Amino acid sequence: MDEILVIDYGSQYTQLLARKIREIGVYSRVDIPQKAYPTNKTVGIILSGGPQSVYSPDAIDMPIWLLSSKIPILGICYGMQLLIQKFGGKVLRGNVFEYGMTKVNLLEDPIFSGLPKTVKVWMSHGDSVEKIPKNFSEIAKSEAGITAAIRSNNEKIYAFQFHPEVFHTEHGTEMIRYFVTQVCKAKQNWKMGDYADLAVKKVRKSLGNSKVIGAISGGVDSAVAATIIARAIGENLQCVFIDNGLLRKEDEAVPEKLQMLGMKIKRIDASEIFLERLKGVTDPEQKRKIIGKTFIEVFEKEAKLFGAEYLLQGTIYSDVIESAAASTTSAKIKSHHNVGGLPEKMNLKLVEPLRELFKDEVRNLGKLLGLPQELLDRHPFPGPGLAVRIIGEVTKERVDILKRVDDVYIQTLKKVGEYLKIWQAFSVLLPIKSVGVKGDERFYGYVVALRAVNSSEGMTASWYPMPHDILREISSKITDQIPEIGRVVYDVSDKPPATIEWE
Ligand code: XMP
Repeated sequence: MDEILVIDYGSQYTQLLARKIREIGVYSRVDIPQKAYPTNKTVGIILSGGPQSVYSPDAIDMPIWLLSSKIPILGICYGMQLLIQKFGGKVLRGNVFEYGMTKVNLLEDPIFSGLPKTVKVWMSHGDSVEKIPKNFSEIAKSEAGITAAIRSNNEKIYAFQFHPEVFHTEHGTEMIRYFVTQVCKAKQNWKMGDYADLAVKKVRKSLGNSKVIGAISGGVDSAVAATIIARAIGENLQCVFIDNGLLRKEDEAVPEKLQMLGMKIKRIDASEIFLERLKGVTDPEQKRKIIGKTFIEVFEKEAKLFGAEYLLQGTIYSDVIESAAASTTSAKIKSHHNVGGLPEKMNLKLVEPLRELFKDEVRNLGKLLGLPQELLDRHPFPGPGLAVRIIGEVTKERVDILKRVDDVYIQTLKKVGEYLKIWQAFSVLLPIKSVGVKGDERFYGYVVALRAVNSSEGMTASWYPMPHDILREISSKITDQIPEIGRVVYDVSDKPPATIEWE
């Protein structure tokens, strides 16, 4: 299988680049400059952007083998400036800052064939090209007159000042495709299934006989990650499913479904201890703390019992993109709760087989690994579970009511074909009762709020305009089938200002 080696200088977009190449059907491998080495399958090299200037005292150089390797190179941003310096051109330090969307004029070059003469691209640089090296030509210029792209006269080396891998860059994918398939002549024979095989081999080699423990939440990421590790090390993986008494009906069936695929899962019923500790607690943050701490306690005991050295995490790329862990050299923006938290306190080494993948790629991979489609399509569910969907004190009675309400809501959405159009749907039990009539009698019942939102990764959200006949069907079913409920309301708040969850 031909490969494109991406040398990572710490750009926020490096994994996006690797992903674009995978979409083109070519395998791509990311490595840091200090360690990167080509194999006999490496047909192209991409030097990523990075936060540094080539003039920084600790500027990272390119690998010494690179220029003598004769492998085609594409330099992006910082990668371009490194190439300019190496080939005897000149980079001007911090004289212009082009940041954000910039118009660029494309000159005649095969890499731009079929593209408009002017395109909008994503720029993010302070240093700029002052002198183009000998045997190179300028092939694009920004509106401010700055060199935006160059090409070596033998057509083996290209360099862009802008980021072709970023979604906002018009026709960026076509430019990458041309480089990968025409300049590097890479064969487009890579498939997502190959990623699974490779990940299995890599994990097997690095884990040897070590034991791994993983918590299965019922979410897509942990299930896909566990499937890969199970394939790699079999019995040395122990998955644990902790029933904290705060799960929905649909979660409770998850371990059986995964067991049918051959995964070893231990189910632990810890519902009593969780509910006992939540007695009398109404503050949402307090609820989260109690649940998190109890989860660690239960899990830690299992890890010791099993003799685990490693902890499996279903971390995916969007979890790490904004943390320093995204790349060895990228600047830290913020840390993320999935990446920190549990392992730090547990003294276990981490194994994270999905770290490079985006959510839709994980779903795709899960499908190839044979995970049931309904598991792959599930809406996100928060770690503290129904506890943050029962406003006020969490009691066994209230959990039981909400479980039944949620089941009616979700099953109806699935039945009428609405579930897959929604990013997240759930119900919230309110701590108030309202007056109603049931039969001929005055009735004093709980109020439940239904929420459905569409969102991009949970950061912002807009309430889902649910068709009225569907709302009516759900509402009648809930009040008919769940005697404790007297009133159903629908939440029409966006995030911001509201959050997705009520607590
Ligand atoms: P909010 O309510 O913050 O939710 O708008 C955004 C997304 O995060 C989920 N969420 C959580 N997930 N632990 C989790 O694992 C939590 O404490 C938590 N709180 C919210 C929420 O379901 C939504 O998808």
